[in-house]
Amino acid sequence: MFNPKPVKKSFHTLRIIILYSSVIYSIYICSVCLHQINVKRVSKLIISSDIISLRSHRRISSSQPVHVSVIPSIDIPSPCDHRRIEDFRWTHFPHPTTFERGECECTPVRFFAILAMQRSGSRWFETLLNSHVNVSSNGEIFIQKKNTSSHGSSSITTILNQVYNLDWNRTAAKKECTAAVGFKWMLHQGIMDHHEEITEYFKKRGVYVIFLFRRNLLRRHISFLANLHDERFKPLNGTHMAHVNSPKEARLLARFKPWIDTTSLISELEKMQKLSVQVVKLFKDTNYIKLFYEDLVKNTSKLQDVMTFLKLPEKNLKSQQVKIHTQVLTEQVKNWEEVRRTLKGSRFETFLHSN
Ligand SMILES: *[C@@H]1O[C@H](CO)[C@@H](O)[C@H](O)[C@H]1NC(C)=O
Ligand SMILES: *[C@@H]1O[C@H](CO)[C@@H](O)[C@H](O)[C@H]1NC(C)=O
Ligand SMILES: *[C@@H]1O[C@H](CO)[C@@H](O)[C@H](O)[C@H]1NC(C)=O
Ligand SMILES: *[C@@H]1O[C@H](CO)[C@@H](O)[C@H](O)[C@H]1NC(C)=O
Ligand SMILES: *[C@@H]1O[C@H](CO)[C@@H](O)[C@H](O)[C@H]1NC(C)=O
Repeated sequence: MFNPKPVKKSFHTLRIIILYSSVIYSIYICSVCLHQINVKRVSKLIISSDIISLRSHRRISSSQPVHVSVIPSIDIPSPCDHRRIEDFRWTHFPHPTTFERGECECTPVRFFAILAMQRSGSRWFETLLNSHVNVSSNGEIFIQKKNTSSHGSSSITTILNQVYNLDWNRTAAKKECTAAVGFKWMLHQGIMDHHEEITEYFKKRGVYVIFLFRRNLLRRHISFLANLHDERFKPLNGTHMAHVNSPKEARLLARFKPWIDTTSLISELEKMQKLSVQVVKLFKDTNYIKLFYEDLVKNTSKLQDVMTFLKLPEKNLKSQQVKIHTQVLTEQVKNWEEVRRTLKGSRFETFLHSN
């Protein structure tokens, strides 16, 4: 017998079951899909925000080098600090940790640095400055290490902070009533390698820069060679004397006449000239004054310029140091004829005649 009804009924239930299960399945699929989309979107957000934070981090770190944090932006407030806004960067009230400033606690202090080439009379110049009752110049504080590249920028700022806080001990440095504190820095002692950090520091703390050069680079070269010889052979009782304090010692040292390699002389002079131009360019945004040894020797008013620059009370400055090479140039070099022929007609010819 054929009964179509139960078949139809069972077919109907099957359809309903399939429909339900497909609906449930699609709901499941949908929920899984949505979940995945959510995860993707969230992770995408996390990634992009990471990139943003990385980027902004990099941007911050590139515009703010690490060393800046080492520079104290303002000095510790002092009860005697009545500075006008325009003086704020240029004057300071240091609180040394090694001694008390006593009666001069309220004397404002200016920071300076003498930037010079070797054998340019910088030692003589510094002794002159130090003869001023209110100046403390600490000598070549970066001389200890022969290897200039080993001065990392952080060690440079640490040393500068110490010097400018009046905590660097040297006998030459007067203490309580210092109105200007500084030191001598030779161009080969890491200045060129670290000029960015140094100029940043100088600008931030208002350091007065004094460039000291020599006009006659031939004389500088002769002095350099003679000093090199002295360092090796030590004619003065076995001690190296880069600078002397008596005419007798000076005569003894000047007895040595260096022989000059004329094949490299012009390029040596060019190198020196280039270096002095380059360093002034690198420090052009600092507050600087440019001096020449020859001008200081000839014209005592130039020293007044320095005191005016550092806003110091005017004083007569004296040095005990004696010039080593006082003779005419022709007497100071072994192969003078050769040197003369080499420089004649070159742009350095004037060095042969001028002092
Ligand atoms: C100088 O110091 C740097 C860094 O500390 C080092 O890499 C280099 O080898 C040193 N040079 C000499 C000649 O010691
Ligand atoms: C300062 O001088 C004292 C004694 O003269 C010495 O012990 C100390 O090491 C010196 N400090 C520095 C940083 O040179
Ligand atoms: C300079 O030093 C003298 C003597 O120590 C002191 O009396 C005077 O106040 C100082 N002047 C300045 C401008 O610091
Ligand atoms: C070198 O030694 C001699 C004898 O000891 C001494 O008379 C002379 O003053 C010394 N010269 C220097 C520049 O130290
Ligand atoms: C000496 O130096 C002063 C100050 O820089 C300057 O005004 C003057 O002209 C110079 N005198 C000579 C003779 O060069």
